[in-house]
Amino acid sequence: MSPARAARAARSRDAVLHVPHAGPEPEAHGNPLRAGTRLERIPEPCQIVIFGATGDLAHRKILPALYNLRRGGLLPPETGIVATARRGYTDAAFREEMRASVAEFSRNPVEPGIWNDFAANLHYQQGDFSDPAAYRALAERLEQIEAAAGTRGNLLFYLATPPSAYPGIIENLGAAGLARRANGWSRIVVEKPFGHDSASARALNDTVLGTFAESQVYRIDHYLGKDTVRNLLVFRFGNGIFEPVWNRRYVDHVQITVAEDLGVEGRGAFYEEAGASRDILQNHMLQLLSLVAMEPPIAFEADALRDEKVRVLRAIDPDWTEARVRRDVVRGQYDAGWVADRKVDAYRAEPEVSPRSSVETFVALRVEIQNWRWADVPFYLRTGKRLPRRATEIAITFKRPPLMLFRDAASEPEPNLLALRIQPDEGILLRFAAKTPELGLDVRSVNMDFTYGSSFLRDAPEAYETLILDALLGDASLFTRADEVEAAWGIVSPIHRQWAEWDAAPGVGRRRRAETPAEAVQPYDAGTWGPAAADRLIEGAGRRWRRL
Ligand code: BG6
Repeated sequence: MSPARAARAARSRDAVLHVPHAGPEPEAHGNPLRAGTRLERIPEPCQIVIFGATGDLAHRKILPALYNLRRGGLLPPETGIVATARRGYTDAAFREEMRASVAEFSRNPVEPGIWNDFAANLHYQQGDFSDPAAYRALAERLEQIEAAAGTRGNLLFYLATPPSAYPGIIENLGAAGLARRANGWSRIVVEKPFGHDSASARALNDTVLGTFAESQVYRIDHYLGKDTVRNLLVFRFGNGIFEPVWNRRYVDHVQITVAEDLGVEGRGAFYEEAGASRDILQNHMLQLLSLVAMEPPIAFEADALRDEKVRVLRAIDPDWTEARVRRDVVRGQYDAGWVADRKVDAYRAEPEVSPRSSVETFVALRVEIQNWRWADVPFYLRTGKRLPRRATEIAITFKRPPLMLFRDAASEPEPNLLALRIQPDEGILLRFAAKTPELGLDVRSVNMDFTYGSSFLRDAPEAYETLILDALLGDASLFTRADEVEAAWGIVSPIHRQWAEWDAAPGVGRRRRAETPAEAVQPYDAGTWGPAAADRLIEGAGRRWRRL
């Protein structure tokens, strides 16, 4: 390896494979799998400006993640947080509210000493995002805080507002001179949803890139921060034995499931605009698909990784004809039912949901990746709300052996399967055939099961901790690039156009279960695995969804 290549590989190794814990492991309990793990990089001090700081995301995810980073020694003491939103708060009142949220949502308890240090650098700045004067006031406040803290001009903006506010905030940051700093860096984290179709995603990219350079932009998809998702890269490219069979010669098909038992949880108005395909498929699921199907990147660094991921998305035929949508896509919507012994309402009865809504709470589809590695291997994707349980998994089913030698065995074993469990019970399962312990010859499928919990005896960091830390370090490997977001919309938007056309046709919106036309949203009982049409989608090919 050339010295430059070796240096790049070492850099990128640090970027992606770091173990998020500062210093040597204090509580390794003699576990050899955890001995010596450490984090080598701590970001430069900066000010983190959160827009929409009084919202749900800031309370549940962003502030708890920042607190945990601070607790782990990963935020330099001078690093400050400037929370901004429309409502009026004093610094003290905001700190109190955040303390309660962190106590409720953080994976670690609030420790008074650490909290007091953290809260001393937590400031509140009231402002109306649409008013240019608010940005001048913000700039002044930042100058004061930076002068007092001695930070060097580094700024991280975090957009946690409703997406409709993004363009205004971005343009105003530019106009106030906050997007480029003479004596430090300026970066922006943009939350999902990034657009609601191809055209709006392109327009938003144009706005963002009119003010910030791509290298300053961190489009967040929290699935990429999940430890088990990051481990997918390690599993594929840190081992020698899986890659040779990771292709059309050996793989029969791949299933990706993101199942939730939750409903829309009071987010009816948002969900009416989104549906499962915008909320989960366009981002989280297509990211999982890209990671599982991509070619090895030339290095573990942001652009090399994202180049390969975007190639996967581009290899999916974007030409969704009406016949193809009818054959390969199923949309469903939950009716009333039972989830975990609890009676739950139908989606149409949720607050702020139209009683005639055709928005999908479930979507299943079949796609092919038309490249040399994957041609003719179907990838089945399904996601839904109010399914029987929460489970995210990628399952790779391999082809059967060319000849079954054990014909006399009582039952034919199932094909080999490799299941990567993203959550819960994070782990990796390999299914293979084994002889049963009897005198005769019988063959059964058995599982070899690795679970993170029992191997490493420690919780993984929260996705938001990983991602915020990476943004502070300037590592965009786990963030989506402009072209990736647009390629993902290029897959989903044509399906939406077809659905809209069907919904507009007379009679299609009407749904009596026995006669739901294929074009309409398919009802399913809450607490079941989605509509029957989803089973038909996969069974037609002699396969079936994994029982999770
Ligand atoms: C979010 C969606 O992006 O992901 C939610 O908006 C969904 O609807 C959530 O519940 C699922 O995330 P996780 O980490 O719980 O799998």
